[in-house]
Amino acid sequence: MKTNIRFEPGRRDVLRMLGAAGLGIAGAGLVALPGCGVYAAEDGEAFAAWEFPGGERIPERVVARAALLGASPHNTQPWGVAISPAAVELRARFDRNLGTMDGLRRELHIGLGCAVENMAIAAAAVGRAATVALLPDPTDPALVARVALTPATARPSALFDAIPNRHTNRGPYLDGAAAPGLEAALRGLQDERSLEFHWLDSLGERARFRQETIDATEAITGDADMSRDSDRWYRHTAEEIVANRDGTSIDAAGLGASERTLGKAGARPSEESANTYWLDATRTRHTTGSAFAILSSTTESTRVDQLRVGRVYQRMHLWATSQGLGMQPLNQLAERQDREEAQKLEPRFTRALASFVGSGRRAQMLFRIGYPWERAFASARRPLEWVLS
Ligand SMILES: Cc1cc2nc3c(=O)[nH]c(=O)nc-3n(C[C@H](O)[C@H](O)[C@H](O)COP(=O)(O)O)c2cc1C
Repeated sequence: MKTNIRFEPGRRDVLRMLGAAGLGIAGAGLVALPGCGVYAAEDGEAFAAWEFPGGERIPERVVARAALLGASPHNTQPWGVAISPAAVELRARFDRNLGTMDGLRRELHIGLGCAVENMAIAAAAVGRAATVALLPDPTDPALVARVALTPATARPSALFDAIPNRHTNRGPYLDGAAAPGLEAALRGLQDERSLEFHWLDSLGERARFRQETIDATEAITGDADMSRDSDRWYRHTAEEIVANRDGTSIDAAGLGASERTLGKAGARPSEESANTYWLDATRTRHTTGSAFAILSSTTESTRVDQLRVGRVYQRMHLWATSQGLGMQPLNQLAERQDREEAQKLEPRFTRALASFVGSGRRAQMLFRIGYPWERAFASARRPLEWVLS
């Protein structure tokens, strides 16, 4: 593996550290210590897909394997792939969804767009010109993209090199101003005419986005259906991670080493303590950074728009990775916007989002960017054999 943190203390060590940590995270419900289930980060078969491109020499298989490393909501990986020498097709797995957390399946489609972008970048690097057709068959909504491949000169790129190093970073970032040129560089990566890029870097805008995001997080944790559907994708033990190779985990949560170790040693946190932890992290770590940004579409918000948003988001995250920057999607406001639409609720967060993007636009993907204090760990991936169709 690229990085193996082989820190596997025994139960006695964990107890000693627990004392040293002064039970500091007990309030988050992470410490129970019924047995010592501590496991190493990024270790084993669940993380093998990140050995990319590894020894893979067949161009269309490199393209397919790149798709698996895209970002996806709660690491649901809602995709399947079909491979032939002339094309790789990406198919939606609609059953791999976030339920009421993504009632309109906006995020599911953005995640599929992330996979498409990795495919296009990988194709160029392995000597294939890629022609991408999004939703090419109106009678088959699961056929999300056909990426036709024809031989071409190989064009290695920094974005291709970043594919196995891109990980969502949920740790603290420096709170300083954005580097000059950062906004322009990100804008330069947004080439879709139907989309707009909104950059929030003034102190006032950041404070307002931060508070609205905290309020939206509170609304989600207070919504029993959303809370349950979110929690369903959390994998606590090494056994759960290797069996499912998806979902969210302690290692990807942006915690320090002692908190991760203690968290693993403890029992699975209850839904309530996970919510308390998430809200606390949103108030502290998750809203640090140089700027927040939003990708929006027109209010029509078509599936193709959402796929395009995913492509642009993935491209930006790969570029940020190549520059040593951290990124984390922060979609609580958009999740509540969709919930308000689906449930015909008072449009509290819909209005908040309109105040950032304008009333003629629909916010699709929200994120923060900045210089992280710590590197982020990889999350598990299902291997190619599991997703071939
Ligand atoms: C559409 C979409 C929405 C997401 N929303 C959030 C979010 O609100 N908060 C968060 O921490 N991560 C969010 N993520 C990041 C995913 O959880 C992450 O991509 C996934 O767990 C896989 O991890 P990786 O990006 O490190 O490969 C989102 C990703 C996508 C594609």
